[in-house]
Amino acid sequence: MIPKSNISLRFVVVGGGIGGLSVAIGLILAGHEVIVLEKAQQLSEVGAGIQIPPNSTRILEILGCKAHILEKALVPKAYHFFNYRGDNLISIELDPYCARKYGCKSLHVHRGDYHKCLVQRARELGITIFVNSGIVEIDLVHNIAITHDGQKYHGDVIIGADGLNSSVRSSIFGKEILATNSGDQAYRSLISIPEMAKHPELDFIHKLPCVNFFWGPQGHVVTYPLKGGNSCNVVVMGPDNLPPDSRVAAADKHEVLQFLKSWDSRLQLLLSLATSTFKWRLQYIEELDFWSHPTQNVTLLGDACHATLPYLAQGAAQAIEDAAALAYLFGKIKHKSEIHFLLEMYEYIRKPRTTRIVNSSKDCQQIYHLQDGEKQKLRDLECALDPPQEGCPARWADPEFQEYLFGYNIFEECEKQWLMATTLKEKL
Ligand SMILES: Cc1cc2nc3c(=O)[nH]c(=O)nc-3n(C[C@H](O)[C@H](O)[C@H](O)COP(=O)(O)OP(=O)(O)OC[C@H]3O[C@@H](n4cnc5c(N)ncnc54)[C@H](O)[C@@H]3O)c2cc1C
Ligand SMILES: *[C@@H]1O[C@H](CO)[C@@H](O)[C@H](O)[C@H]1NC(C)=O
Ligand SMILES: *[C@@H]1O[C@H](CO)[C@@H](O)[C@H](O)[C@H]1NC(C)=O
Ligand SMILES: *[C@@H]1O[C@H](CO)[C@@H](O)[C@H](O)[C@H]1NC(C)=O
Ligand SMILES: *[C@@H]1O[C@H](CO)[C@@H](O)[C@H](O)[C@H]1NC(C)=O
Repeated sequence: MIPKSNISLRFVVVGGGIGGLSVAIGLILAGHEVIVLEKAQQLSEVGAGIQIPPNSTRILEILGCKAHILEKALVPKAYHFFNYRGDNLISIELDPYCARKYGCKSLHVHRGDYHKCLVQRARELGITIFVNSGIVEIDLVHNIAITHDGQKYHGDVIIGADGLNSSVRSSIFGKEILATNSGDQAYRSLISIPEMAKHPELDFIHKLPCVNFFWGPQGHVVTYPLKGGNSCNVVVMGPDNLPPDSRVAAADKHEVLQFLKSWDSRLQLLLSLATSTFKWRLQYIEELDFWSHPTQNVTLLGDACHATLPYLAQGAAQAIEDAAALAYLFGKIKHKSEIHFLLEMYEYIRKPRTTRIVNSSKDCQQIYHLQDGEKQKLRDLECALDPPQEGCPARWADPEFQEYLFGYNIFEECEKQWLMATTLKEKL
């Protein structure tokens, strides 16, 4: 699926998160040389669970990571949407539906396990990963990434996969571009399933591997069980009350319980079982004017250029699609002179899609967090339509939008653009 280039370029990938490791793996498979520079002292992923949509599973298969991940993942049966009182609004089947319709399963997995699988695959392919190598600046004239302690790494192409607060992005734009506050924060905790099992009223949350959403005034709750560790991933979204200068903080569970005071008592019981919770400020990046430097061979990928609210569970999925696009296009390269042209093609293919997803995730904030009232009644009625219609508030049930989220074939998109551009060039 990933073509193999007959020239070998040197890529420097800044950031060893899910996006950075995926692109490194893809580019090695496309016949290039890659190093990864990671700021942290060791490779790891914090946080809790992550949902992998079916076509991301397909990309992971092509990168050679699917077997590792399947060992660690659960296959969710369905999405269930409830209001905050615990009434079911709509359910959407995922398994076996996704495999039948999209050719691959939807999965959920612990972020740490997901990341570990990518690290293992990267090592298997001989990719060098330098830790403790935070990049502070890109020398744009010579295409060199410079670390905090003055180490220099030259690449034919530099890819900034350095997340929400990307320093490669600052170098490309010559100024800091800040993430936008959404007004929301997320409490994330892992809750012990053996503890939950002592309360039969919580069976519906963990007995079958399903993703549950609870929509309420000013916030929503998402739960899904994880394999290994025997825990359930629980995320509570609500109004941001973090101090302005911090993005993450330890949270007191009484604060969460207070927020959920008028919600389904089963949710309060669930959260009372949490042993620790952390809260994150939820931010996103407004559409950038461009991703690649206008003349130099430096570009961005993943959260660095399109961080999104997690309300459609698409952030990592989009980072992996970016990675697949770069790997595919640079698998086609025949001459160094094509580098910048391919970076522009990458951006042309990916930017409209990621912008729509960032925007749609932002729209979900309005949909999920409605106060009781007319709009909320209308929303709940729309959920009750059978079959679900275009515009369905549970966005995955909207047949057109589901196809957009799940049915996208990044390799086909790249092949189409590449063919179009090369035929055009031959005509000129
Ligand atoms: C509550 C929550 C739930 C989510 N749930 C889902 C989900 O279910 N499904 C989904 O698809 N997505 C989900 N996401 C989004 C997903 O986590 C991100 O979109 C994804 O991790 C982005 O990957 P990335 O590699 O682009 O960035 P990151 O994961 O942020 O990785 C960036 C890496 O770069 C390193 N770095 C940073 N600065 C430098 C530097 N200067 N030099 C070198 N290295 C540097 C960092 O240490 C890090 O390792 C969720 C996000 C949140 C907040
Ligand atoms: C973002 O990165 C810059 C350096 O590029 C740093 O000065 C700043 O403190 C970081 N901000 C956050 C919120 O991490
Ligand atoms: C960037 O790529 C172009 C080809 O698109 C090439 O001509 C140029 O030399 C490259 N720049 C650097 C600094 O390597
Ligand atoms: C995304 O949202 C911005 C700001 O609301 C808007 O200007 C833009 O047209 C939207 N783009 C898409 C593709 O939806
Ligand atoms: C994604 O799903 C569609 C079905 O809608 C399928 O045709 C396509 O090949 C899949 N994408 C990838 C990358 O395989």
